[in-house]
Amino acid sequence: MATKTTRFLMLLLLCTAILTITALSLSPSSPSDAYPSGYGACDLAGGVDLIPQRREVYGDGRIFDITHRYTPELAAGFSENGLGQFLWLQGSMKNDSIANFSELRLSTHSGTHVDAPGHVYDHYFDAGFDVDTLDLDVLNGPALLVDVPRDKNITAEVMKSLNIPKGVRRVLFRTLNTDRQLMLKKEFDTSYVGFMKDGAQWLVENTDIKLVGIDYLSVAAYDDLIPSHLVFLLGREHILVEGLKLDNILPGIYTVHCLPLRLLGAEGSPIRCILIK
Ligand SMILES: *[C@@H]1O[C@H](CO)[C@@H](O)[C@H](O)[C@H]1NC(C)=O
Ligand SMILES: *[C@@H]1O[C@H](CO)[C@@H](O)[C@H](O)[C@H]1NC(C)=O
Ligand SMILES: *[C@@H]1O[C@H](CO)[C@@H](O)[C@H](O)[C@H]1NC(C)=O
Repeated sequence: MATKTTRFLMLLLLCTAILTITALSLSPSSPSDAYPSGYGACDLAGGVDLIPQRREVYGDGRIFDITHRYTPELAAGFSENGLGQFLWLQGSMKNDSIANFSELRLSTHSGTHVDAPGHVYDHYFDAGFDVDTLDLDVLNGPALLVDVPRDKNITAEVMKSLNIPKGVRRVLFRTLNTDRQLMLKKEFDTSYVGFMKDGAQWLVENTDIKLVGIDYLSVAAYDDLIPSHLVFLLGREHILVEGLKLDNILPGIYTVHCLPLRLLGAEGSPIRCILIK
């Protein structure tokens, strides 16, 4: 009896210690704070081995996950209530299934995702320019993370002021959207920062950038939603990665790796992106 109580108390102490350490290791502005809590609660019955680790940074601070975790609360285009339920457990071991089988249902433009040319050009869609045709060489390689001025959308003037050298092929633009944590707000916010048409045009005409990444659901500012997309996707050379999670990373040069799903016929896809220092 006494040993059983002692074991329980020790487990409780251990669990409390682990939860405290986890809390301490997160800086106040850590992006993980903003995610819904409740994950990784200490399981007293199963012991400490059953605590899943959810990380934003791997490899001693070398690898940054710049993908947002899919949760029902994540911002979604034109939705007031976020993504909503996207996972259903179709077969459950609690119901005599031999294993757990979940199904998912998502807009291909939800969370951190990529746009293919068929997104805004119907003839490209019909011709089959889907996410399976995107160039993995553009989606993987050296990339620049830059901060853009917080008081403007990305216009030609802003693009010019960034002085991005020729030869830079991949740029992730961090904006006011990150400061405002817009991806973590349920209600779609049309005041997000993005490219105005002239900014998109300037990038296409004056830089070697082919991968354009941004920190909300659209690279195009809401006021130029379609015009900016049309400019970027016309030549079928530019790849747009949207909804990136760019907080708590220093601006500078990294290696980016972005891999979309091979969805035949889809003009968008969820994408997993990481930065490596
Ligand atoms: C899924 O399977 C695990 C065992 O592998 C079980 O513990 C868990 O309760 C199951 N989940 C559901 C929702 O049935
Ligand atoms: C098990 O099946 C019943 C009846 O189909 C359903 O109501 C219940 O939600 C299922 N439980 C789980 C954990 O899937
Ligand atoms: C960017 O443009 C949107 C409209 O598309 C506007 O609501 C927002 O205030 C602008 N942001 C800045 C920082 O100028």
